Amino acid sequence: MPGFVSCPASQLVFGIIVLYSVHIKSEIWTNEVSDVQFGRLGSRVTLTCGGSYRGSPVEWRFNGSSVLPWPTQISEDLLALLSTRHYMEGNYSCHDERGTLLQTVKLRLGHLPHFVNVSCRVPSHNAIYCSWLQTKATHLPTLFISSYSVKGKGAEPCEQENIGVNECTITNPPIWSSKLLVNITEMNPLGSNSTIIQVDFHKLLKPDPPDDITVLHMEYQPTQLLVQWRNPASWPDEFNGAFPLLFSLRYRPIGSSYWSMLETEDNTSLRIMDALMGHLHQIQIRAKDALINHSQWSEWSHVVEARPWINPWEEPTEEPVDFSYSFFNLSFPVRATDMSLDSSLDLNGSLGLLVLLGLFAAVMVAILLTILALLCVRQKKRDNVLKQELTSMVKMKSIPI
Ligand SMILES: *[C@@H]1O[C@H](CO)[C@@H](O)[C@H](O)[C@H]1NC(C)=O
Ligand SMILES: *[C@@H]1O[C@H](CO)[C@@H](O)[C@H](O)[C@H]1NC(C)=O
Ligand SMILES: *[C@@H]1O[C@H](CO)[C@@H](O)[C@H](O)[C@H]1NC(C)=O
Ligand SMILES: *[C@@H]1O[C@H](CO)[C@@H](O)[C@H](O)[C@H]1NC(C)=O
Repeated sequence: MPGFVSCPASQLVFGIIVLYSVHIKSEIWTNEVSDVQFGRLGSRVTLTCGGSYRGSPVEWRFNGSSVLPWPTQISEDLLALLSTRHYMEGNYSCHDERGTLLQTVKLRLGHLPHFVNVSCRVPSHNAIYCSWLQTKATHLPTLFISSYSVKGKGAEPCEQENIGVNECTITNPPIWSSKLLVNITEMNPLGSNSTIIQVDFHKLLKPDPPDDITVLHMEYQPTQLLVQWRNPASWPDEFNGAFPLLFSLRYRPIGSSYWSMLETEDNTSLRIMDALMGHLHQIQIRAKDALINHSQWSEWSHVVEARPWINPWEEPTEEPVDFSYSFFNLSFPVRATDMSLDSSLDLNGSLGLLVLLGLFAAVMVAILLTILALLCVRQKKRDNVLKQELTSMVKMKSIPI
């Protein structure tokens, strides 16, 4: 039975527990590029003049200038920068007494790797997506090594498809355990730092919203709507049967703030039986793994709008006022009001025509009668004149000559 619930706030869950960290191996990338040296910001950094004869004094220059504008300590072929700052980055060159260039060292300064902020997304049973953010800018070239392990097993790589995107994918995680450790190790020339989080991928399991939602009205059923959809694309079809989805559907007539809810398991269609007649409805669907209780609901799908079938022969007068408004604004195959309006208009039209015809006929008859009457009067007059002429002729004949 559908119940009324209010829209639940959507939540983003990062199921992460930071367990353990910090492995610092210093200076791993030092001199990786022959003339680049990396140093920690704020610390003492020592540069060595390669190519000098041991013990012979050298001259240091910075960016070509022989005056070093900050405190340094020079002893034989060593240059020590006491407390490094960003502006001390640049080219340091050492020269012998005659000014001949012995070596150039490019100094780059930055920070040790810090923790990363890891979050994982589990849209189906066959893939876990983890992504991470640096929590401190190091100003240095950085590499991330990502792996995962299940209790009692060795580490497996969490595959990074695009270096520099900070995302990795665990495909087909083991099914015998729902918990695994994800290890994201940030490395730069100064050292490395591992962030290890425990992921319970059953708890994090949160499907994507269902796809391809369509809503159809049912002919002759003014309170029904048929809703159809498909599993989210990230929920592989071969899962059907093995990993059923539970779907929850909510709907409401536009303007109402209350949603009615329906649920169905392992089914990709549902019939709403109690839609409000003649009203446009909003429909949304979400999905959840049907078997794992503590997994999460997907986000709601986008809203689909539909109206149940409208009886074209029924007067829409029983409908509320706002209905007629939306009714005329939305195109719909059959319009009940249009049809009745049309026929009444026709009736009125033909009645008017009849009356007009009748009036016309009456006027014609009147005109005809008038003409006839006039003709009669004229005839009588002519007859009278004839009579008078005849009598006067008779009188003339009777007059004796
Ligand atoms: C620093 O040295 C590099 C080559 O090692 C050179 O390309 C660059 O122009 C130099 N920069 C300055 C400011 O001297
Ligand atoms: C030294 O040169 C580097 C480039 O190699 C540049 O970034 C830096 O600003 C220069 N520093 C000074 C003080 O000129
Ligand atoms: C980790 O990132 C999420 C967003 O991706 C953010 O909400 C959270 O505050 C971050 N935590 C830390 C410790 O930076
Ligand atoms: C995490 O991964 C790094 C790099 O592969 C490795 O050196 C380190 O031992 C791992 N840490 C744990 C606790 O597995």
